[in-house]
Amino acid sequence: MAYGANVASDRQRTIAIARGRLSLERMTNHVIRPDAVADHDAIRSVNRLAFGGDAEPRLVDALRDGGFVRLSLVAEQVSRIIGHLLFSELPIITKDGTLQALALAPMAVSPEFQNQGIGSALLRRGLDECRQKGHRIVVVVGHPRFYQRFGFSPALASALQSPFSGEAFMAAELVRGALEGVGGRVEYPPPFGLGVQAGTDRIAR
Ligand SMILES: CC(C)(COP(=O)(O)OP(=O)(O)OC[C@H]1O[C@@H](n2cnc3c(N)ncnc32)[C@H](O)[C@@H]1OP(=O)(O)O)[C@@H](O)C(=O)NCCC(=O)NCCS
Repeated sequence: MAYGANVASDRQRTIAIARGRLSLERMTNHVIRPDAVADHDAIRSVNRLAFGGDAEPRLVDALRDGGFVRLSLVAEQVSRIIGHLLFSELPIITKDGTLQALALAPMAVSPEFQNQGIGSALLRRGLDECRQKGHRIVVVVGHPRFYQRFGFSPALASALQSPFSGEAFMAAELVRGALEGVGGRVEYPPPFGLGVQAGTDRIAR
């Protein structure tokens, strides 16, 4: 019974790979795919292990429950979830109206699998999928050395007002020129727990 189920899921996976829905990555034999309801516990666990606390698992749950998630991908190895990343909606309020962007957060790889290319593979795939879905701008707060190799930069985020600042606050264009002339305030959804950002004195610069 269990063996039959494994064969079936292997066959489904092979078909999905052939159809381009999944990608086998080069360095390890993991698969990257959209998350499923059955993955939610494992996603909590990966985030808890990677970040060493419950804040990120709670953030993932709250973003999902609030309907803010635009893409959630997992890295799976031998039926075990070892990495996760999530993009949620992030409006930019400009003087000409609201521009839809994405926040990349959180992103996590289980400690024992870090530095094996899994985070990079997740991020490449995530950015590609977001671009294919028509998204144009992604904002992240994170390690500059890691994210800059994927096109994120503090310079691209310099005209965006946010509760974050400094070199960790970065943006990337999924379409060349998407941030040209764009200035405004990014409005993190409530699950980020940043409060109302309209009052400028609450915004760290
Ligand atoms: C950051 C993270 C997602 C990267 O995933 P990963 O699978 O380890 O990344 P990769 O193996 O693809 O890439 C590793 C590279 O990222 C760099 N990197 C990893 N963590 C880093 C950090 N905290 N600061 C700067 N660079 C970092 C490594 O030095 C390595 O660089 P190299 O290729 O020059 O050797 C993972 O380390 C993680 O889950 N960390 C804990 C949670 C976290 O900090 N999440 C991101 C929040 S911004």
